[in-house]
Amino acid sequence: MEDSERPIGVFDSGVGGISVLRELVALMPQENYIYYGDSAHAPYGTKTLEEVRALTLADADLLVGQGVKALVAACNTATSAAIQLLRERFSDIPVIGIEPALKPAVLSRVHPRVLVMATPMTLREEKFRRLMERFREQARVEPLPCPGLVEFVEHGELSGEALEAFLRELFAPYQDGTVDCVVLGCTHYPFVRETIQSVLGEHVKIFDGGAGTARETQRRLRERGLLRSGGEKGTVTFQNSLSDPALYGLARRLLAGPCVPETPCGM
Ligand code: DGL
Repeated sequence: MEDSERPIGVFDSGVGGISVLRELVALMPQENYIYYGDSAHAPYGTKTLEEVRALTLADADLLVGQGVKALVAACNTATSAAIQLLRERFSDIPVIGIEPALKPAVLSRVHPRVLVMATPMTLREEKFRRLMERFREQARVEPLPCPGLVEFVEHGELSGEALEAFLRELFAPYQDGTVDCVVLGCTHYPFVRETIQSVLGEHVKIFDGGAGTARETQRRLRERGLLRSGGEKGTVTFQNSLSDPALYGLARRLLAGPCVPETPCGM
């Protein structure tokens, strides 16, 4: 098989990385994808650095073992814990990570107040500390760890009273109308974006890094002559460390779009 014909491997601690996968598919529909979710071990963001590194390497090994031509860590937590290790281990293929989309948020206004929602690990790690430092002069950046939010998405609970109550409590200190932007620094959060918007108010601009990661993946593939040519549509194969059939249904629903449980998505 020609190198360009090989699939792109995408992984996350669970179903969250599908928010990146859907951007990849929108940008490069002719590619074939294998998406691996490690739902058996989600969430990663409240584990130790050593645990997340070991899990991330195992996820990547599983995909590289299937001959992928590129690896996308569609997980901010795995990226902050292990992107360097992944690049060293798989130096012969492009390895793309994701980080909170702080730059576009900071540049969207003059000295905005920006909340960065992410897992405790992402916000604790050096990578984010350095990113925050870069924009110290240009914005008021406030990290907001959100333990517990990933679980709503893993359970397919993308709207409803319990989620709203969780978010109201999380945002209770930020209800004075002074927050300008929110960065979704975890790939699970775009799936609850509408509820976040409704709790914080329409004046708040929300950013996430999915589309930027997809563009970077395309750029890296093009650079190496690895883009799949030909007009026909590629395929998406879902794999998960849990064999629960409901998870595969959820995965297909999330890929189809930002729909809520009550809305059939035609899949
Ligand atoms: N979706 C992940 C992220 O982008 C990980 C969430 C978790 O497992 O805690 O950070």
